[in-house]
Amino acid sequence: MSHIIAPSILAADFANLQKEIEMVNQSEADWFHLDVMDGVFVPNISYGMPVISAIKKHAKKTLDVHLMIVDPDRFIADFKKVGADILTVHYEACKHLHRTVQAIKAEGMQAGVSLNPHTPIAVLEDIIHNLDLVLIMSVNPGFGGQSFIENTYKKISQLKELIEKTGSRAIIEVDGGVNDKNIKKLIEAGANALVAGSFVFKSENPIETIKKLKEI
Ligand code: DX5
Ligand code: ZN
Repeated sequence: MSHIIAPSILAADFANLQKEIEMVNQSEADWFHLDVMDGVFVPNISYGMPVISAIKKHAKKTLDVHLMIVDPDRFIADFKKVGADILTVHYEACKHLHRTVQAIKAEGMQAGVSLNPHTPIAVLEDIIHNLDLVLIMSVNPGFGGQSFIENTYKKISQLKELIEKTGSRAIIEVDGGVNDKNIKKLIEAGANALVAGSFVFKSENPIETIKKLKEI
């Protein structure tokens, strides 16, 4: 399977959201990456259910929803209702992660867990076999357009080893500062899905940019 490209809508022009969604539909991108921030878990607020509902009406691809919110259990059913296909929560935001993952699956969504740059892969040892996806943050969550943290390659290799050792089927997704300079090395380290926000939406020709990221 070739790698998955998930453009992050956080970097899109919100005043022309439908146009941006159609661009992703027409491109070679695989998923829509949707970042939900609550101003508590991360120092920024993005968008929530009404915007995801509006995106769902036009989107023809998987909705990959990345929750950067405290206590995400409160909203699992709501994210299903607005159309999330994959729901990813942060390890650092969940007291009872196993319960949260089960609740996501019970709603019929794929369950992902995200790790902040400082959180070691080892914390996933006892849950990896229950996960459909692990999202490794390659910047501190909260903002688009930040620089990629080099330690990420090591974490991807460690995660790949853990997945192979346990027979888990989890997809390895990387999020933050992904561009044409680091994508090859990320894939070589074991990444299966790459989120790209600014690099896609701030480029002159986003469709071409996505095509180039897919060709690598
Ligand atoms: C950051 C978000 C990312 C962000 C990536 O907290 O989780 O998905 O949109 O943006 P870039 O690709 O610009 O780093
Ligand atoms: Zn994200």
